[in-house]
Amino acid sequence: MNAARLNDDANERGSAQNHGASVGLTADKITIRGGIPLIGRIEVKGAKNLVTKAMVAALLGETPSVLKDVPNISDVRIVRGLLEVHGVKVTEGAKPGDLILDPVDVESAHFAAIDAHAGSSRIPILFCGPLLHRLGEAFIPDLGGCRIGDRPIDFHLEVLRKFGAVVEKQPNGIRMSAPNGLKGAKLELPYPSVGATEQVLLTAVRADGITELKGAAIEPEIMDLINILQKMGAIITVDTDRVIRIEGVERLLGYNHRALFDRNEAASWAAAALATDGDIFVGGARQAEMITFLNVFRKVGGAFDICDDGIRFYHPGGDLKPVIIETDVHPGFMTDWQQPLVIALTKAHGTSIVHETVYEQRFGFVDALVEMGATIQIHKECLGGHPCRFGQRNFNHSAVITGPTKLHGADIVVPDLRGGFSHLIAALSAEGTSTVSNVGIISRGYENFIGKLRLLGADFDLEG
Ligand code: EPZ
Repeated sequence: MNAARLNDDANERGSAQNHGASVGLTADKITIRGGIPLIGRIEVKGAKNLVTKAMVAALLGETPSVLKDVPNISDVRIVRGLLEVHGVKVTEGAKPGDLILDPVDVESAHFAAIDAHAGSSRIPILFCGPLLHRLGEAFIPDLGGCRIGDRPIDFHLEVLRKFGAVVEKQPNGIRMSAPNGLKGAKLELPYPSVGATEQVLLTAVRADGITELKGAAIEPEIMDLINILQKMGAIITVDTDRVIRIEGVERLLGYNHRALFDRNEAASWAAAALATDGDIFVGGARQAEMITFLNVFRKVGGAFDICDDGIRFYHPGGDLKPVIIETDVHPGFMTDWQQPLVIALTKAHGTSIVHETVYEQRFGFVDALVEMGATIQIHKECLGGHPCRFGQRNFNHSAVITGPTKLHGADIVVPDLRGGFSHLIAALSAEGTSTVSNVGIISRGYENFIGKLRLLGADFDLEG
């Protein structure tokens, strides 16, 4: 491992602690005594991957917005900081989880202030459209986010240029301006990128004229962002075949919205229930946005009950069964679900395959599982049936998991958000004691996960 990587890791650990500290998690290490089924009820709040974009959308309104069910996670803290350096007043609403976002005094921010807040998030790129509309300029620092692939922003820059933005690469980021304003455009994405689709939505709603976007992402979080923008006064049509049409309007007002629940967090706790032979009721989870996950959960041998106020996920007993999973864009099996579910697949009787087609480097978390006794091989080929963008390109993007294997305790370091939750599940389902460090990263996307582990009867200690 080279010096730069070590530095990166040191920085990553530093920022992991910052992530944790920003939401009250002072510990960076957790010692888990595994083998105890997780049993009980937890609640999930608004989706990290919607709430952060909804906060950015508030910039487009001429009056304050109210966002409900906002989770206390560090990614929300980062976006809040970025909005505040741009003059947006962010205050807590009447109820816990309500945020009031007042964009009336939006102003330019110094790049150093933006840089300081950007930290390890990808969200700053989505500030472009709203800031270009409000201020005629925008500055985007170098982006962060989980190291699960190269994660370029070429689609984002391409669509912004097509709207008429002038994009200047600078040593510490990207500066943008719109000398002639922003005009509607005919656009097509080479791949249904969630971020690039959000970029188009947040820019086109106030652009002059009509925008047609082909090859759009249609994830539930995209649909909920469209709900919000329509509440603000936007005109957006979603056709079949991933075509979205937006008629630009001159003015938008603030919204009042309850965020869509976090289906990634719900799927993660479901995977934890299955791997620990447990029984977890996830309050706030809904069937409609999890249909594909529920199918696979059932095929592996898990059981679930759909209720009005949530979904109960449990291990009904019996052997778990192997499956073939190919991650894909919605309505396919979501890439953020594979890492947590892999632990249950190590206990399945037979050979499972996970073909990761959305990110080219999302198996970094596997090394630690092999150290704990799992039998997992990583391959460069497209295993699973359908060739993907990463085939024949030297990326380790398929995993072959042979079970059943018994995991045993080990000392492991969290590599990224979903990989981190997967490591928690591994330690909880393993025989013996594990130490999981760098856990601060997990608080980027999982509200109060320590409190929820306590509620579910996990046996652990926190270390500072
Ligand atoms: C969002 O990331 C989510 N993050 C991700 O969740 C999620 O995995 C992903 O969508 C896919 O559903 C947030 O919403 C903050 P993409 P995003 O643009 O928007 C390539 C989590 O754990 N691409 O759909 O960054 C890209 O490299 C996170 O919660 C380009 O090539 O994802 C990737 O291979 C992880 N050029 C693919 O498209 C571009 O300009 C999908 O990326 C943009 C993307």
